[in-house]
Amino acid sequence: MKKLRVGIIGGGRIGKVHATSISRYVPTAEIIALADPFMNEELKQWAGSVGIKETTTDVKAIIDHKDIDAVLICSPTNTHADLITAAAKAGKHIFCEKPVDTDLERIEHTMKVVRESGVLFQIGFNRRFDHNHMAVRQKVEDGTVGEPQIIKITSRDPAPPPIDYIRISGGIFLDQMIHDFDMIRYLSGMEVTEVYATGSCMVDPEIGKAGDVDTAMVQLTLENGALGVIDNSRQAVYGYDQRTEVFGAKGCAKVENDTKSLVEVSTRDGVGTENPLYFFLDRYIDSYAKEIVDFAASIQLGEPIKCGIDDAIRPVEIALAAGRSLAEHRPVKISEVSLSK
Ligand SMILES: NC(=O)c1ccc[n+]([C@@H]2O[C@H](COP(=O)([O-])OP(=O)(O)OC[C@H]3O[C@@H](n4cnc5c(N)ncnc54)[C@H](O)[C@@H]3O)[C@@H](O)[C@H]2O)c1
Repeated sequence: MKKLRVGIIGGGRIGKVHATSISRYVPTAEIIALADPFMNEELKQWAGSVGIKETTTDVKAIIDHKDIDAVLICSPTNTHADLITAAAKAGKHIFCEKPVDTDLERIEHTMKVVRESGVLFQIGFNRRFDHNHMAVRQKVEDGTVGEPQIIKITSRDPAPPPIDYIRISGGIFLDQMIHDFDMIRYLSGMEVTEVYATGSCMVDPEIGKAGDVDTAMVQLTLENGALGVIDNSRQAVYGYDQRTEVFGAKGCAKVENDTKSLVEVSTRDGVGTENPLYFFLDRYIDSYAKEIVDFAASIQLGEPIKCGIDDAIRPVEIALAAGRSLAEHRPVKISEVSLSK
């Protein structure tokens, strides 16, 4: 089978993750070119080191490239909607990093363009492709845990991103917790109907000055009446703390942190284990490859997209409802913010 020919837009943190994982772990795809308006010698050399021959500062060159079948949009969030629209109009399949945008109207409009163009679209909620989360989902789907009643997610980063990133990130709910909103939907197979959010600035006062919180907790109600709770921190000093639990009528399925090894060391001072893996690159590296493997399979073999248009819209609704809840100190129904009633 011919390889899927992709062009990557944006050669920052996540663009490099995708480029590396495709070149090493996705035999069904090849990277034709990388575009970044801030392309420099260092990035060019790095691209060469993972086998990317063509580099450009012109994003449009990727979108119009005759040898590219699909684009991977890995640029800052505020560029996604325009790039998706341009790529869809050019007939290119699209993989876009989360979120599509921070404005629901803009997202709905962009997704309409995608639907009308007929190209395939996948959103980058990579945690769905993590083997542990897939196993928990399986236990919910096959009825092992019974009807979900409580879902708990702890999701804490090891260190906050630079303040310039925070400023354009859309805030903790749209930038960080959006992955967990997606997880709640994915693991339960249900929609969220209401949220109540609390938040605080405990890590860095600069984050507060940028108008954001760095510590947040959201309680969620699902369509069957089940309850969810998510806690986020921008800084867990012991590493990337990622734990998940689905408790149901027949049992419970949970995922603890991944560690480099399972060794437990006991001495007279106490008993210790390894810290959690440091950050998303370490903990979720396989999931980034798997999501692109599946994206390629959808294009090449017609397999259904596993994380598509609806999955791009719903977590943003939940994030916006959480933001409103925090600002107004009250529970907010998703129907208050949703445009697709
Ligand atoms: N799925 C995940 O786990 C995950 C992790 C990190 C980031 N992200 C998402 O990926 C996106 C990028 O985040 P990042 O951390 O890689 O940011 P980054 O700042 O490290 O990289 C962004 C890159 O895009 C380039 N760029 C800037 N303007 C551009 C434009 N107009 N067109 C094309 N490229 C442009 C920059 O030069 C930079 O190289 C964000 O939307 C973020 O939410 C997702």
